[in-house]
Amino acid sequence: MLRAFIIEAAMKVSDAIATRRTIRAFKTDPVSRKTIEEIITLAARAPSGGNLQPWKIHALIGPARDELVRRVAEVRKQHPMGTTPEYHIYPPHLTEPYKTRRFRVGEMMYETMGIPREDKMARLNFFSGNWEFFGAPAGLIFTIDRQMQQGQWADLGMFMQNIMLLARERGLHTCPQEAWALFHPQIREYLNVPENEMIFCGMAIGHADESHPVNSLTSERAPPAEYLTVRETA
Ligand SMILES: Cc1cc2nc3c(=O)[nH]c(=O)nc-3n(C[C@H](O)[C@H](O)[C@H](O)COP(=O)(O)O)c2cc1C
Repeated sequence: MLRAFIIEAAMKVSDAIATRRTIRAFKTDPVSRKTIEEIITLAARAPSGGNLQPWKIHALIGPARDELVRRVAEVRKQHPMGTTPEYHIYPPHLTEPYKTRRFRVGEMMYETMGIPREDKMARLNFFSGNWEFFGAPAGLIFTIDRQMQQGQWADLGMFMQNIMLLARERGLHTCPQEAWALFHPQIREYLNVPENEMIFCGMAIGHADESHPVNSLTSERAPPAEYLTVRETA
């Protein structure tokens, strides 16, 4: 059954990884329900400790996606940045080198569009595109049962990465979006998410608008010397 989903001339995993990047401007070209269901079904082959498969996902396409965007836009009129998420998106006191890495990617991103640091309004306007799935025709919302611990959150991350790589194999791009966690009450209400589940994050999925300057961003990576220790001798 799963084999039937594997497209011909599949992209190499290395190429899918190398060409995946966060896309923040999408074309309106649709993504079919069939494609989304294929990607998610295949992605669920992700490993998980004890095979718990702790992921839950809502796929929103067409009018269903538009309705979430509309509801959140309504709230944004009064609360442009939503409410406090149910979990810490970043550690409250982020230390180095993580702090600089976070700052740097933000600066690089706004630089692609010529938006300076002082232009807070232009930055907020661009950031607000998160809550329109950056124009993508489909969006995913990931939730996780509150009883789950660090291990299961890692499992969920592997599932999400599978989705992003399978999207590449189909010529699609993605944007993982923790920004949606800021509007968890509206998501919960609209999607009837039970209280025992936490709204972790969203993901835009669609065709990249290659002409938009923000999509020219290639984020940096620290060299292996900063995070890798290899030992060959005891
Ligand atoms: C779980 C997760 C949540 C993210 N949330 C957002 C978000 O809300 N908005 C956004 O523009 N980018 C978001 N990103 C994208 C990161 O900023 C991006 O992955 C990072 O800067 C590295 O760039 P790259 O994905 O292009 O390699 C998120 C990434 C992850 C993994």
